[in-house]
Amino acid sequence: MLDIKIEKTSKPKELPDKDNPLVFGKIFTDHMFVMDYEMGKGWYDPRIIPYEPISLEPSAMVFHYGQEMFEGLKAYKAVDGRILLFRPDMNAKRSNRSAKRLCMPEIPEEDYIQAIKELVEVDKAWIPTKEGTSLYIRPFMIATSPFLGVRQSHTYKFIIILSPVGAYYPEGLNPVKIWVEDDYVRAVKGGIGEAKTGGNYVASLLAQMKAHEEGFSQVLWLDGVHRKYIEEVGAMNIFFVIDGVVVTPQLNGSILPGVTRDSVIRLCKDWGYKVEERKISIDEVYKAHKDGLLDEVFGTGTAAVISPVGHLRWENHLMQVGDGGIGSLSQKLYDNITGIQLGKLKDVNNWTVEV
Ligand code: COI
Repeated sequence: MLDIKIEKTSKPKELPDKDNPLVFGKIFTDHMFVMDYEMGKGWYDPRIIPYEPISLEPSAMVFHYGQEMFEGLKAYKAVDGRILLFRPDMNAKRSNRSAKRLCMPEIPEEDYIQAIKELVEVDKAWIPTKEGTSLYIRPFMIATSPFLGVRQSHTYKFIIILSPVGAYYPEGLNPVKIWVEDDYVRAVKGGIGEAKTGGNYVASLLAQMKAHEEGFSQVLWLDGVHRKYIEEVGAMNIFFVIDGVVVTPQLNGSILPGVTRDSVIRLCKDWGYKVEERKISIDEVYKAHKDGLLDEVFGTGTAAVISPVGHLRWENHLMQVGDGGIGSLSQKLYDNITGIQLGKLKDVNNWTVEV
């Protein structure tokens, strides 16, 4: 159990105007959690302090070799007034798996969740309540040793910040257009693709810019070896409904093991769908589309929740998925997951955790 010191701000900021839509990740609450690490000493000085700039040496290793990792989860104001987190244990576990891969120190799961809970409690007035909004929680860790040799850092900072958010995509639940990338690759097996680290996201930017210029919201990545098997969307995992069967790429070491992905698989199985976690090639998707069997495509992620895909562009083909609108399974998943998160539906899997 952490002994967290709390220093409240003397200058609380104005809460966001309830009538203006919240843009994803633009405003931050009054406080943040900070904890330091030193090799040989372990984690120390856990504290909640006013949200403020941090001071680091220009030689801090995070600036040079990218040793950093992050997570994303959300807090919700339930309909009965409780404050709920959605499966924070999954984030704590994944954070430690990322830490191992990136040679960073792990954090005991109970400490990780305690830090999140205490910070959310301090800034609970910032949890928005309008439909489709939540308090996004961004824990992250950075390498702080002032050193230019290539090795793991000996000191780190673990920080949690909070941001009241609306939908990740301006489209909201309306279908997005996705560009299947066949030039650049995001990650390969054996690399860092399954760790939640900035390097994977910077690797995606050039292709994303190209896709944006062409009017597409996101990039769908193919595997780096065969340039054929579907991986993920970068900010989301991806699902296909082909002739009634729910198919998603298996966790192969280069894609992110998403919390929403896991929840969707569980729900679909509970509802009697056949769910296949396996290799799926872009040719198979194209063929399903040509044969009229591509019922639905949707992305899943903490930020995006469920994001229906209306169009997929691959090489010279523009595939419209179904009628280009929100598929029935996508809508049902969105309603159920947000229903559980807001305490409107029975949480049979015990996914929510009260703050
Ligand atoms: C999330 O869904 O929480 C993510 O981390 C995706 C993205 C905003 C980077």
